[in-house]
Amino acid sequence: MRSGEHFSPPGERRLEATYGPHLEALCQRSARALTACGYTALLLHSGSRLPVFEDDQTYPFRAHAPFKVWVPLTDAPDSFLWFEPGATARLIVHRCADYWHKPAQLPQDYWVRHFDVRTVADHEGARRELPADLSRAAYIGDAFAELARWGVGALNPPDLMRWLDFPRAVKSPYELDCLREASRLGARGHRAAERAFAAGASEFGIELAFLEGCGQREQELPYNPIIALNAGGAVLHYQVLEKQPPRERHSLLIDAGAQFQGYASDITRTYSAGDADFALLVGRMDQMQQTLCAGVRAGVDWRDVHLRAHRLLAELLREADITRCSAEEAMASAVTSVFLPHGIGHLLGLEVHDVAGFMRSPQGGDIPRPEGHPNLRLTRVLEEGFVVTLEPGLYFIPQLLDAARADVRRARCINWPRVEALSKFGGIRIEDDLAVTRDGRENLTRDAFLETA
Ligand code: GLY
Ligand code: MN
Ligand code: MN
Repeated sequence: MRSGEHFSPPGERRLEATYGPHLEALCQRSARALTACGYTALLLHSGSRLPVFEDDQTYPFRAHAPFKVWVPLTDAPDSFLWFEPGATARLIVHRCADYWHKPAQLPQDYWVRHFDVRTVADHEGARRELPADLSRAAYIGDAFAELARWGVGALNPPDLMRWLDFPRAVKSPYELDCLREASRLGARGHRAAERAFAAGASEFGIELAFLEGCGQREQELPYNPIIALNAGGAVLHYQVLEKQPPRERHSLLIDAGAQFQGYASDITRTYSAGDADFALLVGRMDQMQQTLCAGVRAGVDWRDVHLRAHRLLAELLREADITRCSAEEAMASAVTSVFLPHGIGHLLGLEVHDVAGFMRSPQGGDIPRPEGHPNLRLTRVLEEGFVVTLEPGLYFIPQLLDAARADVRRARCINWPRVEALSKFGGIRIEDDLAVTRDGRENLTRDAFLETA
């Protein structure tokens, strides 16, 4: 699909048009899953508020993905979805009856008319909205105390969950609209963060700019932003967010995404504060990332994308004088894994690291990772409708460099003075979100950045 074809925001009417077919397909595949596993109905839980030990606070609420795939209701804990094939699905929304919290609003959106909606004040009220006999129903969600008395046939049965999770890798047109909008919101946040970095903000200041740019509070984001100045970029999931700017500024690595209707974006950019050599290295990584993106299409084994990334990185390391052995030797001795220890990407959707990355089929069996690559999160062959991240990196990670220095074969491959000089920049990651189309891929992230330029 041509880049830039999807610039209109998904207005209510467009979502209304695509949501119906999404729900229809979901009903069909859920009915098949129930039949295959011997159940007659499905009871999905939105999730519980989890209390902090000895406190009257709860942790930020995150709705369960198997519930969110049905309804974009992300802030209604203790709600339920009841599905029996052939009948209108019932949405049981929990509205607290106290005066300490604002009750969840009864949704009025485009999707509500597809459901038989009931509101309840507690678990007992929810139980009354369900059939008396739940012995042939499967329940998916938290095992809250009263559930033991509800008489459900099974609690989170693995075979059924597998049947439900496997097809989530292929996104419906409605889901693609949501993912495009999540990318747009994320790109706005990234633009604001880049400006804050240029103005000399701290890591925390850059996060505030990101939040304001995408218009979301931290707990609405799909994951905690990774915002690292300088050597912090070598910590893959850096979480500190220093409040003071460092005395010297070399680089920024920002990995942050936004959420729309429960769907996530997952975007990383790396910037040089002024050093031309590091800026050149970032530019090379960007080119390599684009080369890899161009190879994404239906029928491609994701393990081959990952291994190709290591081959391209081996060449790049040599060209940048970071290694001094052949690309073949860098691959054979796993030197590339010293600089790139994570997977090349993963499925993206309702969860940032979306489910079903290894599944061979709904019936069972996992596809193994390539030997020597324990952190790859996706091993399936790409299909039209998959949405994946593509995120090559090049890091200077002290623990991995120390281990390589202690190993003669790898140690002699590496140009140590060059590595020492680059370590203050931490690392580089460039991460885009791609939808696999009939004849190639759509880059949700680059399209979104173009739109927010
Ligand atoms: N933001 C985590 C990741 O890129 O996988
Ligand atoms: Mn990612
Ligand atoms: Mn990321």
